[in-house]
Amino acid sequence: MTQVKKRILFDAETIGARVKELATEISTNHPDGNLLLIGLLKGSFVFLADLVRHLTVPCEIDFARVASYGTGTVSSGTLEIIMDVQTPIRGKDVILVDDIVDTGLTLSEYRKRIEQEDPRCLEVAALVDKAARRDKHVNLDYCGFQIDEGFLVGYGLDCNEQFRHLDSICVLE
Ligand code: IMP
Ligand code: MG
Repeated sequence: MTQVKKRILFDAETIGARVKELATEISTNHPDGNLLLIGLLKGSFVFLADLVRHLTVPCEIDFARVASYGTGTVSSGTLEIIMDVQTPIRGKDVILVDDIVDTGLTLSEYRKRIEQEDPRCLEVAALVDKAARRDKHVNLDYCGFQIDEGFLVGYGLDCNEQFRHLDSICVLE
């Protein structure tokens, strides 16, 4: 495999502290614990796992797998639902959890899909926000970090399925 150059942007300690803050915010906003967190696979698996272990209220967890990217680094423009959520949604406080919001296509489209199932409320959490590249509006209720540009890997984020296991978030150079 060719050598890829990458630089640490957020180290494990920084990410850990921020994720704990987000979990505290979520616990405070949902004291009755009627929560269903839906992780968007694959990228959110590390973030979701760390996030839920800092929650102080009960929650259900489920996953959906959607794709807008194929295997490259540019969005294809349409959303394909590969595996939908199975848990009943009606009346729950649902939080969609994703790793990174880029064009916003993934979250804006999947949010519409979940809204149709009558949740009590519907929020969005993302670890990283690339707001400058937004094409479709998405309201981020919980956001870990903002960046302007660059393609990130690590802490669940991949490039061609590599680097998801890294404990820090790095930018490809
Ligand atoms: P969007 O639909 O353009 O907002 O893209 C969101 C999805 O694209 C994310 O959930 C990621 O899976 C992927 N993605 C976007 N930017 C990056 C990046 O910098 N690194 C890795 N994956 C990314
Ligand atoms: Mg993703």
